[in-house]
Amino acid sequence: MNRPIFIVGFMGSGKTTLGKKIAAAMGRTFIDLDHEIVAHIGMSIPEYFKAFGESNFRELEREFLRKQKGNNAIISTGGGTPCFFDNMQWITQNGLALYLEHSPKSLWSRLSQSDVNKRPVLKGLNGEELLTFIETKLEDRAPFYNQSQLKVDQMHTSIEQIVQLIN
Ligand code: S3P
Repeated sequence: MNRPIFIVGFMGSGKTTLGKKIAAAMGRTFIDLDHEIVAHIGMSIPEYFKAFGESNFRELEREFLRKQKGNNAIISTGGGTPCFFDNMQWITQNGLALYLEHSPKSLWSRLSQSDVNKRPVLKGLNGEELLTFIETKLEDRAPFYNQSQLKVDQMHTSIEQIVQLIN
């Protein structure tokens, strides 16, 4: 049976970029879970959070994750996907999870250069407040991410090495 590969990690860690590269290197399809949800709801994630709240988004995320059963694709998940319901257990039972690990400082510098308003969880934070938020949130979320079968630090791991680890 086909087994999807899920890229997990904090917001801004580069899951989509890495997922696309791995998919190209392995000749597999790439799927971005957030894009699947956005295509279905017909609005952006911040708009959906505002209109229907985070808990409805988490339900949708749970549903769209489970649709990937038996898919042979490389799938980038949202930063929160592994951390709700029994999603992380489902991921490791039905696929291979690859955690793209970063320090809080690294995430801070990456997220500071992005539009924080695209991510409702970040609530428009910036500067020191954003760093404190990342540190706290990562501490909550790391126990989920750390259940991944594979862990990579992109600074020190090439795509070829990652593909070797997967195979
Ligand atoms: C979220 C991360 C986002 C998106 C949503 C919630 C989170 O995905 O799913 O805004 O809770 O960390 P990215 O990790 O791609 O930013």
